[in-house]
Amino acid sequence: MLDLFAGEAPWQEPLAEGAVVFRRRVRDRGAAFLQAIDEIAAANPFWHRITPGGHVMSVAMTNCGELGWGSDSHGYRYESADAANGRRWPPMPALFRQLAREAADDAGFADFTPDACLINRYAPGAKLTLHQDKDERDLRQPIVSVSLGLPAVFLFGGLTREAACQRLLLEHGDVVVWGGPSRLRYHGILPLKPDRHPLTGEYRFNLTFRKVR
Ligand code: SIN
Ligand code: FE2
Repeated sequence: MLDLFAGEAPWQEPLAEGAVVFRRRVRDRGAAFLQAIDEIAAANPFWHRITPGGHVMSVAMTNCGELGWGSDSHGYRYESADAANGRRWPPMPALFRQLAREAADDAGFADFTPDACLINRYAPGAKLTLHQDKDERDLRQPIVSVSLGLPAVFLFGGLTREAACQRLLLEHGDVVVWGGPSRLRYHGILPLKPDRHPLTGEYRFNLTFRKVR
């Protein structure tokens, strides 16, 4: 893939009040992030959740940290063990915790200590429909999201499903933080376009850090 920004210093773009994209923020640590994801997935492999509506999600998921996000025919919840195999989620790597804390801090949210990290894997065509992250107890805590591998179009909407969405291409190493008045904004990912990334092949990975309890 031709990379016009190779070697460029990271920069940031405000999205809305309480929301910002830190472009290329983890790009130079991309391989270390992906290695950590591989180790987590070796213990707790990616799998496709069922939505409460009975659909198989196109995104494959695993988690690390004390709690993992899960979904089944009964609803969405955070779980301390992987429903696929009963094993606890692997601990959150220090690399992940530090990045989440620093990015939150730079976005104006001090002392972010995530207890959950959802790891999404997108293959070509995989998407995430517009939704709010609202299953966490303290909504003063932000969401920190890290994109790795193939680029994808992120929809960043308003506080209702109908509100207009900003569309931004999230690329390898980009970090988005949203909180405060933006904490409950709807967001989603358009179907991943088939391509190849030197580090992740046909996939895009996304980490979302949350403070659940
Ligand atoms: C999410 O909303 O859980 C993930 C968003 C993304 O993949 O960038
Ligand atoms: Fe989300």
